[in-house]
Amino acid sequence: MVLINDNYTKLAESYLFSTVAKKREEYRAAHPQAEIINMGIGDVTQPLCPAVIAAMQQAVTEMGEAATFHGYGPEQGYDFLKDAILQHDYLSRGVNLTADEIFISDGSKSDTGNIGDILGQANIVAIPDPVYPVYVDTNIMAGRTIKMLPTGEENGFCALPPDFHADIVYLCSPNNPTGSVLNREQLTAWVEYALRENALLLFDAAYKAFITDDSLPQTIYEIPGAEKCAIEFCSFSKTAGFTGTRCAFAVVPKGVMGHTADGESVSLNALWNRRHTTKFNGTPYIVQKGAAAIYSEEGQKQVQATINIYRENAKIIKDTLSELGFFCIGGENSPYVWLKAPNGMASWDFFDLLLTELNIVGTPGSGFGQMGEGYFRLTAFGSRENTVKAMERFRNYFGK
Ligand code: MLT
Repeated sequence: MVLINDNYTKLAESYLFSTVAKKREEYRAAHPQAEIINMGIGDVTQPLCPAVIAAMQQAVTEMGEAATFHGYGPEQGYDFLKDAILQHDYLSRGVNLTADEIFISDGSKSDTGNIGDILGQANIVAIPDPVYPVYVDTNIMAGRTIKMLPTGEENGFCALPPDFHADIVYLCSPNNPTGSVLNREQLTAWVEYALRENALLLFDAAYKAFITDDSLPQTIYEIPGAEKCAIEFCSFSKTAGFTGTRCAFAVVPKGVMGHTADGESVSLNALWNRRHTTKFNGTPYIVQKGAAAIYSEEGQKQVQATINIYRENAKIIKDTLSELGFFCIGGENSPYVWLKAPNGMASWDFFDLLLTELNIVGTPGSGFGQMGEGYFRLTAFGSRENTVKAMERFRNYFGK
């Protein structure tokens, strides 16, 4: 008899974005004429920029010649990419890290899920509500006790340190799904909490490239003390259009410690290295070459131009919804706009209304947690044409 991990029976039947995609496809099959606009999953639509393509093409050529061929690379990632990240994302901001504190991977979804491998089952985990569902689902899978940190309009959907103890805290800033961003003061409060409680912060910064307000930290390591209590997750998915190409990185500073049941201190960097080298064989050379190209002068200009397209989409969405009288936040420093469904509608009812009446797919807020009930997320990652068209449909339907 094969025993399963019983914790899986405690999960919702399907992952949020799979449910949304299934409903969309069912509707499409029943209404083949409908011109559906997808503003649901945060998947990018702009192509990879020319600098990335050129670097990847060059890497493909290298792979075709014995003298420059690459087999297994270092599981932690090639130095050329880690050094570029280190220089551009950290040292240039006055954050002192070293290359062996950076681990290249195939995505932040994998990293934020897999990090649980090195953390004990008895840890109490605090997770903001609403938030990216991977944190909750992967901790249910591991059988950990989860305590939610409710957020809402009253606190700008920003989770602040609770008055209870947690061993692990997930933070996502800019936040998925609400688009709220933790400011320096709030992040400082979190670092102080973690140091006081001997807790670990798991800081998901996948959307940091959307921050335009210079007063907002781009990395948690801008906050003194974070190098002793925080692991940071960053991704090339939303920064450089790598959702289909897969490349991300985790920063695990050597000063972040965990403990054995006997109280002995253990470096999480060493444990993550052990886990990474055992369970992961490295992100492809070609992909890492492409990712490194975004740090060149032209690569930076090109990815910024793409991000600006999404930023403008977000502004179009937010301006239209505000004009129509919807409560909405996000859309600035973030590619997501978080709105309140009209007339007290439940999130999934609003999903059905948008799908059937406007042929627009969004993501129901309740899928991100109980506190998301009655809210809804729209993404700015669509094309300009579809974003404008979707907002015209909103005007026609809700503007009357
Ligand atoms: C989202 O729509 O929340 C994200 O695209 C999901 C992800 O990054 O895995």
